[in-house]
Amino acid sequence: MSLLLILAVVLLVAYLTINWFKDQPKTPLPPGPSFLECLQITWRMLRKNDTHLIAEDLRKRYGEIFNIRLFSSNLVFLNSSRLMRKLFASGQYRDVTNDRPWTFFGEHICYDCRMMVSRNYNQMFVKVRKLIHGTIKLYGDGIKVFEDMVNGEIKILQKELENSTLRASFDLDNALKVSLIRVIHIFLTNERPTDSKECKYICETIVNYDHSDNEMYNSFLLNTCPWVRFLPGRGRQLYKGALEARDRLINLYRNPSIAKRMESSGGGLLGKLLNEAEHDKDIDETTIKGVLVDMVSAGYLTTKGALSGFFLLMLYYPEIQRRIQEEIDDNIGGDREPSLDDRSVMHYTNAAILECLRFTSHVPIGIPHVARVEIDVEGMRIPANTTMLTNYWSANRSDEYWDKPNVFTPERFLDGDGKLLPSEHILRSQLILFGVGRRQCVGESFAKSRIFLYVTSLLQKFDFLPGDNELAPLDSTTWKADTVMQPDFLNCIVRMR
Ligand code: HEM
Repeated sequence: MSLLLILAVVLLVAYLTINWFKDQPKTPLPPGPSFLECLQITWRMLRKNDTHLIAEDLRKRYGEIFNIRLFSSNLVFLNSSRLMRKLFASGQYRDVTNDRPWTFFGEHICYDCRMMVSRNYNQMFVKVRKLIHGTIKLYGDGIKVFEDMVNGEIKILQKELENSTLRASFDLDNALKVSLIRVIHIFLTNERPTDSKECKYICETIVNYDHSDNEMYNSFLLNTCPWVRFLPGRGRQLYKGALEARDRLINLYRNPSIAKRMESSGGGLLGKLLNEAEHDKDIDETTIKGVLVDMVSAGYLTTKGALSGFFLLMLYYPEIQRRIQEEIDDNIGGDREPSLDDRSVMHYTNAAILECLRFTSHVPIGIPHVARVEIDVEGMRIPANTTMLTNYWSANRSDEYWDKPNVFTPERFLDGDGKLLPSEHILRSQLILFGVGRRQCVGESFAKSRIFLYVTSLLQKFDFLPGDNELAPLDSTTWKADTVMQPDFLNCIVRMR
């Protein structure tokens, strides 16, 4: 037995060594750690999910681009906004860099990669993206329907906050969670949950699913060793949990009663998809399910992570909270609801939101891209089928691009007159939060609008204070290293203004 084991190890090392040297004479790959260090990194990535922290260490050594050799494949990290734009958005490369690599989660949980996030860039992808975009636009920037829908939900949240003002510890994290899930539910169905029981069921279902997605999507263990799902242990547990969570989610949105209502009303994203499916055979049941799971994970957790991070910052920086409130008082006042039209004059608030997204970088590594063919970039070779990771964490927090990156400073995005820097300003354009090019986040305006309305509506009416509550660490390096990160808890005192 032990002889067999030794033989297996010798063969594996021989295979890896041959693979390592086989490519050496050609145009060089991007620089990266040695063979032995790659093995160590692989081992760490198999045990932990903290790819962004590994990447930041390596970025300090290798700069804008580096390559980690994993077993026989390459994993190229892009650590600057300049390279991300060049590779994903420029005419020179964009036709061959906007596919997605295979993922365990995509194939085994999300219907053989039929969700939009996992599709390769092709005609069908463009069709599905257009469909989603059309619905999001309906709820997007400046559109009254969107404002009314979100403001309705914010009012419910404000009522809850009003009732909690005497409490020494209010769970703001949970309140934000419920409110944002209600918004996503309305976005999908154009229906509000009928009562608290239904709302609780919807919340549990979405939270369960997102929990699995968040842990599994970028799980190096499952992506490199998919067979661990057959062995007892963590991999199998994650896999089984995710399947159950997905089935419960699908049952919530595809049960016969809701399907009938959606088909006849045509409301929400679900109704729109069903109507489309009637005359387009490409929009089949699996595609509908794929888009549903996509929207639930991409649409809720990302915005929740952003808002939890924002309100944690407000607890740490009461003077910044006060400055935002002054801006609200001066421009909106206390009597009317904030509206998306107010954004153009709320310079400090906009700067604080941008700085929060930069400072926490709660989506540290983007959704992976894959090279369709071998590409040459700046004298380096990225072989066909190489996975390319966007390291937003380093691009947004490195002291090479940012002055004192570990200090939360909304002013960095303001000019001398206190106005928000224009989007083409170097600091704004090097801040990449939603990706660039053909795979840029389809929900960007939906997310930004919601964040603005939640921040202004809550700070208009309430002060948020730590009181005697322990605060989660502000340093997002210590947050759980999931695909979307957020503080563990957000307990505070809420006071009416
Ligand atoms: C603060 C909130 C959000 C952040 C930081 C964020 C960030 C991102 C990033 C970094 C990507 C990957 C871009 C790439 O592959 O290069 C992405 C893709 C995506 N996002 Fe978002 N997102 C947010 C909110 C949303 C919302 C609200 C929705 C939907 C309603 C959404 C739907 C999607 C979808 C479907 C994709 C995949 C696009 C594709 O594969 O072509 N996101 N997002």
